[in-house]
Amino acid sequence: MIQKIRVCIWDEDNSSRAGMLRVLQNLEQYQIIEYHDGSGGIGNLESLRPQALLVDVDYTIAQPEKLIPQLRKAMPGLKLVALGKRWDENARARYEEMGFDAMLLKPVDVESFQRALEAAFAVKARLGNNCQVLSFFSPKGKSGRTTLIVNLALALARVSGEKVGIIDAETNFADMDAFLNLNPRSTIVEALRDLNYLTSGTLEKYFEEVSDRVFVLCGAKTPQQAAFVEPEGLTKLLEMARPSFRYLLVDLAPGFNAISIAAAEASEKVYLTTMADGTFEMKHLQRAMEIFRSLDNWQQRLGCVITRMTPDVRRAKELEEEIGCPVTLIPNEYLLCSIAANNGRMAVDIGSGSLLTQQIDRMAFAIHGEGR
Ligand SMILES: Nc1ncnc2c1ncn2[C@@H]1O[C@H](COP(=O)(O)OP(=O)(O)OP(=O)(O)O)[C@@H](O)[C@H]1O
Ligand SMILES: [Mg+2]
Repeated sequence: MIQKIRVCIWDEDNSSRAGMLRVLQNLEQYQIIEYHDGSGGIGNLESLRPQALLVDVDYTIAQPEKLIPQLRKAMPGLKLVALGKRWDENARARYEEMGFDAMLLKPVDVESFQRALEAAFAVKARLGNNCQVLSFFSPKGKSGRTTLIVNLALALARVSGEKVGIIDAETNFADMDAFLNLNPRSTIVEALRDLNYLTSGTLEKYFEEVSDRVFVLCGAKTPQQAAFVEPEGLTKLLEMARPSFRYLLVDLAPGFNAISIAAAEASEKVYLTTMADGTFEMKHLQRAMEIFRSLDNWQQRLGCVITRMTPDVRRAKELEEEIGCPVTLIPNEYLLCSIAANNGRMAVDIGSGSLLTQQIDRMAFAIHGEGR
């Protein structure tokens, strides 16, 4: 089912707001909601979950240059439309510079409203946002990839204060839902099926909430259904999901195939994850590196994570030289990981005091520091 885009009108002038609501009610594509606060602040606006906000800039908000960063921080995917009685080129440039995605002249009619919203969504699509897609690949299974992704997503949300998405693109036995004790209403299979009818805003509905800033698009429920996940669709899905998140983490099935290559090509970073288990894993890692070296700028884009290896700065440096890209070591914390995973409590049980969390936090700081 296609969900309507939630558009919120914020105008402290009651009659102007009521007028707009009257004109815009019953639109097929949009659900119009209203907000007013009296103090000019964003109060409970976030709880209305708007995807676009039409805000009156003549009387309602006194200091847009202060308010916009606040809105961007609280609701990163939100499209902002400035509503005003008069526009000229100077005003337009000024509001654009402040961070508005589009402008709309009062009195509003259906046609000008639709044009402004299309412009707001298109600006985002054209400029892209600063989303970084990070995909996680491993030569073999049971490397600790899913454990790493969940914890790194939570850490990135903490470090950045922004929204983080996870896409479970596992095609064997997707299990992100079990790790997080979720019973998803929709999965990647439905998202791919509906893709041609979706926008970035409506795609968000297919994600399940893990915490206030972490959202997951769960994987196919069965390997048969996973046949829907194919390279072209996944590439489009990643592009469409970008505007909603600061970071988007993609869990890929172990092994090497067309889907992992497509995801790697669509990602800013590819992490090869492997478990330290003697020399074989290192050999597989080096062979995987060979394959990913064909990516453009591979040196900036590839990273290795070796799990179940005690963090040791000197050892990490040696490995970096041997492998040729940055290496993160994640310690062996079997009990902690397996209890949390088995109970579906990965998002809450891995405590902040563990060495594992510290290493993952470090990785999050490094990713966020580099990306700014
Ligand atoms: N750092 C770690 N130390 C010890 N055990 C770990 C660590 N990370 C994960 N594990 C355990 O290893 C097993 C596999 O982990 P996980 O499912 O995260 O790996 P995976 O690479 O996603 O596996 P799959 O190939 O099945 O998708 C789980 O039992 C998990 O609890
Ligand atoms: Mg996994």
